[in-house]
Amino acid sequence: MRRMPVLPAQNIVVLISGTGSNLAAILQAAERGQWRQRYGAQVVAVISSRADATGLHVARQHGIATALVAHAAFAESSDPRTAFDAALQSEIDRHQPALVVLAGFMRILTSGFVAHYAGRLMNIHPSLLPAFAGLNTHARALAAGCQFAGATVHWVSAEVDAGGILAQAVVPVLPGDTPAQLAARVLLQEHQIYPAAIEKLLQARVALGEQQTPTQWIFQENTIK
Ligand code: GRF
Repeated sequence: MRRMPVLPAQNIVVLISGTGSNLAAILQAAERGQWRQRYGAQVVAVISSRADATGLHVARQHGIATALVAHAAFAESSDPRTAFDAALQSEIDRHQPALVVLAGFMRILTSGFVAHYAGRLMNIHPSLLPAFAGLNTHARALAAGCQFAGATVHWVSAEVDAGGILAQAVVPVLPGDTPAQLAARVLLQEHQIYPAAIEKLLQARVALGEQQTPTQWIFQENTIK
């Protein structure tokens, strides 16, 4: 009988604050794509910054361990942001992650936290970065008269929404689009490109045969045919 080669574990920790639709897309892709068997990869924990995040239910439905690191709990600290990031880091590091995936995680992270996860920390933003970094991206894109919007998967750097681009999807703006309508169409593309980008990274790491992430590795996906 032929034995499958034993792959080094590639643990994935996902951080959320809200609905968790990207989390759901990632979990479905991991199950359908057999990430565990093919890349030694599995989502081992979902950590939320909010107790009421619906995404926590998504995680539980898939049998994934959940944890809460509530930013509100650190409000009285002399340095709430650093205290929160330290608690978050210690919760994440219990899982020795190969990748830490931000999926609707609504916190700005300190530079020390970002440096600790260099080459392992990725995010998705609902715009064609570097355009419209930050909040209210869809309303700002519509106000600017953009004909195309989209989403970007990127490495996280100390500057918000400014890390190296891993994947993009382009979404046409339709006449009469409201921010909510545009956001809903962009979100559908997010659900495609985020799991795809993660899978390509996992594949690349297996091919490299080591626990190194090719940080310069970039690909783009244009959804306009
Ligand atoms: C997504 O649009 C993501 O790009 C942004 O926050 C939203 C999260 O949605 N960062 P969900 O929680 O994954 O449904």
